[in-house]
Amino acid sequence: MTIPDVRVYEHLMPAPPTGQSPVPVQANPRAYERPAAQAAPATPATAPQSTPPRGAGGFDPEAARRDVPVLHRTVNGHPLVWLDNGATTQKPRQVVEALAAYYSAANSNIHRGAHTMAREATETYEAGRAAVADFLGAESPDTVVFTRGTTEAINLVAQTWGRANIGPGDEILVPRLEHHSNIVPWQLLAKEKRARLIPVPLLADGSIDQAAFADLLSFRTQLVAVSQASNVLGTVPPVKQMAALAHRYGAKVLVDGAQAVAHFPVDVRELGADFYVFSGHKLFAPTGIGALYGRPELLEGMPPWQGGGNMIDQVDFTGSTYAPVPHRFEAGTGHISGVAGLLSAINWLTGFDREAVAAYEQGLLAYAEQALGAVPGLEILGSAPGRIAVLTFTLAGHDPADIAHRLDRDGIAVRAGHHCAQPSLRHYGVESAARASLALYNTGEDVDRLVASLLRMTQGAT
Ligand code: ALA
Repeated sequence: MTIPDVRVYEHLMPAPPTGQSPVPVQANPRAYERPAAQAAPATPATAPQSTPPRGAGGFDPEAARRDVPVLHRTVNGHPLVWLDNGATTQKPRQVVEALAAYYSAANSNIHRGAHTMAREATETYEAGRAAVADFLGAESPDTVVFTRGTTEAINLVAQTWGRANIGPGDEILVPRLEHHSNIVPWQLLAKEKRARLIPVPLLADGSIDQAAFADLLSFRTQLVAVSQASNVLGTVPPVKQMAALAHRYGAKVLVDGAQAVAHFPVDVRELGADFYVFSGHKLFAPTGIGALYGRPELLEGMPPWQGGGNMIDQVDFTGSTYAPVPHRFEAGTGHISGVAGLLSAINWLTGFDREAVAAYEQGLLAYAEQALGAVPGLEILGSAPGRIAVLTFTLAGHDPADIAHRLDRDGIAVRAGHHCAQPSLRHYGVESAARASLALYNTGEDVDRLVASLLRMTQGAT
């Protein structure tokens, strides 16, 4: 597998002023060093930690921070503390510059032009596809379909593979911790096909009840749809083992990687995923671009989804034939600049030692759990071992929306509400909670600011 050499932007790319390696839009040779496969971070966040981690083993969070301009702004008179990474991540300047460079020097439609810029834009787009394939450990770039994001990718699978393969009486298993985007598309499909959507229960710590999962699996199970990391509880389910078990019954497995890809290396073949989906904007890339991975034989057998240009072979009023995969699933003009940004984001992230990043984030989670323990009345939802650095919490006597508003006044961004995962919250008997979600550029100082602000709140300060 080779990435086309994309040189068109080079003259627009400034020298890197950071501690990080240069990451222009062109292919990053390191992207082809496949990371060791794993389904969960190497270091579980169990031991309390009283000093903030500083980064080690080749990862310096300050280098990542220097690359991300928005982290250096102020909000309401305070330096920004961005703790809403579960909703979206902030963008390194390399990604911002890749977008500017694309539109400044290389904008063209792809695939159908007979001119230099169309060829260059096509090369960038396909370089992005190859980079995603490598990032996910996929068989080839042809297994990667660009979508608007995770939600569209799941709906694509539901409406193509699902409509062709799910019938009356079939069962779809979905754990209770899933995001609405990994529940509702299956609910719609089940209703249309008179199939059954079956929730898999959780244990008290927010992990999936594996005994119940094993009991619920049967030869009626056609699909298991499970996230690789929960956006509310942080749980990292044992997806590899769940997939192996599901496959014994002939079921397919869709893995929602939206909250996983930014935090630890992924290998879809090692996981046993039949489908894997993620969003670029949770991976330091622009909004509006994401990807679906599908096992080659599954994609080959799937009917088209949306019809239009780009996805056809021949069109006549007597009937049409379709382009080969993955183009069959990419009707219309794609988000070309988004792919340029995604390529740049993948290059940026894979320029770090990802095992060291995962270990750093685990240290930060342990530090945050201990520090938040000092806030009276604060309760964290979810305590499964090995989870990602997501801290969803309630604070006695304080409405979550009010918590977010008060933190915002101190320049601290957290999300409040149901987090598009109402069944997860109801597992803990609440309808709403606040959430601090961390990324590689967050630091112990960010956590300290959060805790100090929450303490002021509990002390009645206005
Ligand atoms: N799914 C995103 C979140 O968890 C929007 O906030």
